[in-house]
Amino acid sequence: MAFFFLALTTSYATAAPDAVAGQAKAQLCAACHGENGVSAIPGTPHLAAQPQLSIFYQLLQFRDQRRKGGGMEAIAATLSEQDMRDIAAHYAKLPAPPAHAGGDAAQITRGQQIAQQQYCSSCHGAQLQGQKHVPRLSGQSSEYFIAQLRNLRSGVRADMDGTMASAARSLTDEEIEAMAVYARSLP
Ligand code: HEC
Ligand code: HEC
Repeated sequence: MAFFFLALTTSYATAAPDAVAGQAKAQLCAACHGENGVSAIPGTPHLAAQPQLSIFYQLLQFRDQRRKGGGMEAIAATLSEQDMRDIAAHYAKLPAPPAHAGGDAAQITRGQQIAQQQYCSSCHGAQLQGQKHVPRLSGQSSEYFIAQLRNLRSGVRADMDGTMASAARSLTDEEIEAMAVYARSLP
């Protein structure tokens, strides 16, 4: 344990992301994000299979207080950039959260239609699986999806380049809810 904390606070040098080291460092995160990156707490995001860069950038946003929520600013402040890269590499390799089977069929269809009309997949991927710095939406907690999209729409959550804020600007609450049910139904 002592070695673990030492390793955590002294890893300043930049090395290639190490998913094995990241697994040990991610023990700090399991209480909320789940042992396998699938959270059991409603409103807390699943991190399993999130693109590595997306996790890394979001941790930087929290550390620099450009994004706030869930106490993540304080947690990210304890991590070095190498810790962030290692942890991101670990979560990116984990199996995706299971698709949710019980969603309302009409809402899933409606959510899929809106997502197509709004070109969400042009950035988030054909199955909304995420890519590069763009987060995975498939299988994500609906509560989390809805809260974040509302925050991006209102500007409470400032996104890194403004593209997501403009994508969210014209969406109604009802459209956001339908897309959350659709995204959660995807594997
Ligand atoms: C006390 C509970 C808690 C702990 C411990 C915790 N998190 Fe979080 N995390 C949250 C919550 C809640 C959110 C959603 C924040 C929001 O509402 O914006 C979040 C959001 C995130 C996000 C953003 C995900 C996305 O899709 O944008 C990342 C990345 C993240 N956490 C990584 C970590 C890492 C890495 C650790 C461990 C070093 C960790 N968290 C520890 C509760 C926690
Ligand atoms: C131009 C590219 C682009 C388009 C189009 C786009 N997004 Fe995004 N989206 C992003 C990026 C980049 C982020 C990360 C924002 C940040 O924190 O800087 C994001 C973040 C999100 C988040 C927060 C996820 C998380 O894990 O925190 C949700 C939810 C979301 N987008 C839903 C949508 C939906 C629904 C659509 C279609 C209406 C859409 N996006 C269209 C690029 C895009």
